[in-house]
Amino acid sequence: MTPRLLSPLLAACLASLALPAAPAPAPANLDESKVPPYTLPDPLLCTDGTRVRDAATWRAKRRPELLELFATQEYGRTPSGRPAKMHWEVTSVDRAALGGKAVRQEITIWFSEKRDGPQMHLLIYQPAGDAAAHAPWPVFLGLNFFGNHAVHADPAISLARPFVFYEADRYRPAPAGTPVTSEQRGVHASKWQIETVIARGYATATAWYHDLCPDRGDGLKENVPALLATGGAEERAGDAWGAIGVWAWGLSRALDVIASDAEFDARRVAVHGHSRLGKAAVWAAAQDERFALLVSNESGCGGAALSQRIYGETVGLINARFPHWFAKNFRRYNDHEAALPFDQHELLALVAPRPLYVASAEGDQWSDPKGEFLGAKGAEPVYQLFGLQGLGVGAMPRVGTPVAGDAIGYHNRTGKHDVTDEDWGRVLDFADTRLKPVK
Ligand code: GCU
Repeated sequence: MTPRLLSPLLAACLASLALPAAPAPAPANLDESKVPPYTLPDPLLCTDGTRVRDAATWRAKRRPELLELFATQEYGRTPSGRPAKMHWEVTSVDRAALGGKAVRQEITIWFSEKRDGPQMHLLIYQPAGDAAAHAPWPVFLGLNFFGNHAVHADPAISLARPFVFYEADRYRPAPAGTPVTSEQRGVHASKWQIETVIARGYATATAWYHDLCPDRGDGLKENVPALLATGGAEERAGDAWGAIGVWAWGLSRALDVIASDAEFDARRVAVHGHSRLGKAAVWAAAQDERFALLVSNESGCGGAALSQRIYGETVGLINARFPHWFAKNFRRYNDHEAALPFDQHELLALVAPRPLYVASAEGDQWSDPKGEFLGAKGAEPVYQLFGLQGLGVGAMPRVGTPVAGDAIGYHNRTGKHDVTDEDWGRVLDFADTRLKPVK
C-alpha cells in the first residue's frame, strides 16, 4: 500500500467533503473563453506549508505526499508489488516472425497459483536477424483495447477471448460466447505501427486490458480485483482502486516479466497508452520508477489534462460515465474541481526526472489539448530541481509543430482521437535521444 503521509488536518478536511447525491454533471464546456479563472497548486509546496528547494526533499517528502494524495483521492490505493504466487511461462516463440524481421513471443502471466485463475497474455515483438546483435532491447510497453490479435494482422497471434466484435473501427459487446473471428486481426494495427517500432530498434510489448479488469461497471468484481478482493465499483472503500489503478498495476507486472528476460533492457522500458489506457500509463509511470519514459497519448481528463480548466471532459462527466475507473473518493470533486488538493500537472511531475512525452490531437477537444500542454508545462518546476529544463518553450506550439526540451516533449497534431504514424514518429524521435543505453 502507499504510505499514509497526509497531515491529520488535511485528512480531516478531505474527509469532510461529503459525497454528493449524484446530481447530473454539468455539460462539457468547449469554449476557451468560458474556462474559469483558477490557481494551480504549486507542486513544490508541501501540505505543511514548507517549500521544496532540492531534489532530495522532493524525493523524500513531497513525492510520497503527492503519491498518497493521488492514491486516496483519485485512482485508489495500489496493492504493493506482485502477488506471491504470480508466475509466467513463454507459450510461443517465433524467431522469424513478420517475414523474418521480428522475434515474436507470447507469455502467459498467472496472478495466482491457479492456472484457470486471473491471467494476462503478453505479446512481444523485437527486432530479429542481424539486428539481434544490438540486444538487450529498449521496450515500448502499453495495453491494448481489443485483444492482442488486434494490434497486427500476424495470423500467429493467439486470439483473445473478448465477447466483443468490430465493425470497421467500432466495437460493442457481443452476446456472451460469441467467438472472436480472424477478421478482427489487425483492426488496430495502425495504432501500433509494429514494423516501424521494430525497425527503429525497439521491442514492443502489449497485453489486452480486459485481462486485468474488464472495462465495465461490474468489471471490478472480476479478474485481478476479484483475486485481491478489493471490491466492486459501489461496494469498495472510498480509497480502493478503480480499473485505471488495476490497469496501471498490470503494466508494472508486465514490466516484472520483461525485466526477467536478458534480451530486454529493463532500464529502458517506456510505458505508453492512448486515452483511458493513457491515463493508466501516466498513473503507472508516476508510481513505478522503473519505467524509464512515459508517453501519454490523448489521455485527457484523469490523465495529462488539467482538471481545473473545466474544458472538455470533466471530473463529474467521467465519474458519471465510468464509475469503475477511479476511486470512489474522486466523486467528491464532481463539479467541484477547485477543491482538489492537486491537479494533473503534479501527476506528470511524479515522472521527473524521467523523460515524458505528451501527445494531443486538435480534433480531440474532449481530451483538452491545451490542458494537456499546460499539464506538461506545470510539471517543469520539478524537472528543474533535477537540473532539467523540461519543455523548453513558454507557450503552446502551433498545431503540427512538435516541441521537445531536454526532458519533456509535446505535440498537438491535426486529426481526431487516435494514435497515428505521425504520433509514433514524433515519439520515436523523442525516445531515440532520451532512452539511451545506460552505461
Ligand atoms: C471516452 C472517455 C475518455 C477516454 C476515452 C477513450 O471518450 O470519456 O475519458 O479517454 O473514452 O478511452 O477512448
